[in-house]
Amino acid sequence: MSNLQYIKGNILTLKGYPHILIHSCNCNGSWGGGIAYQMSMRYPHSERDYIQICEENGSNLLGKCALIPSYSEDNLIIACLFTSSLGGSGHGSKESILKYTKEALEDMYNQINVPDIATKYGAIEKLTKYKLEMPMINSGIFGVPWELTEQELLSFDGKMNFTVYQL
Ligand code: APR
Repeated sequence: MSNLQYIKGNILTLKGYPHILIHSCNCNGSWGGGIAYQMSMRYPHSERDYIQICEENGSNLLGKCALIPSYSEDNLIIACLFTSSLGGSGHGSKESILKYTKEALEDMYNQINVPDIATKYGAIEKLTKYKLEMPMINSGIFGVPWELTEQELLSFDGKMNFTVYQL
């Protein structure tokens, strides 16, 4: 059995269980397109946190993950994977996006497994109990064929399970 499960549908539908919404981000403080734009409409306070993190750290964020409260849904935390310095047509190469995706997921794994980290995010239980969900990251604006990102996700088998939403 694989550590990936696919579900058809919009990832932004409300859920009745604790979950982390993982998405791929630029370090330039822009949630201006794709899934990030939809999140900016739904979670403006989270976007504000994301922009501040980018302003303070810029491209030093590459290969890192920022966990951000959603502020509006008790059972949701947002995970920003910093995989490209710029968004839009200025995004990085597929090789660098994949490399930073893997590193950022490793960083996320390490953060989730810090004892007592849950209190920092007002989480409702241990972050290791949160379901890890994502759209088909990197395959839209970043233009990376999904199968390549899928390979990186499969390499976390035994450490993390992911639910992938397909429109
Ligand atoms: N539910 C499920 N999947 C979605 C949804 C949704 N509501 N909205 C978009 N998708 C899918 C797209 O069809 C695509 O397959 O998510 C995938 C990723 O799309 P993008 O948002 O274009 O993201 P990505 O390719 O990872 O590029 C990241 O775009 O999201 C912005 O600011 C972000 O600069 C970053 C870049």
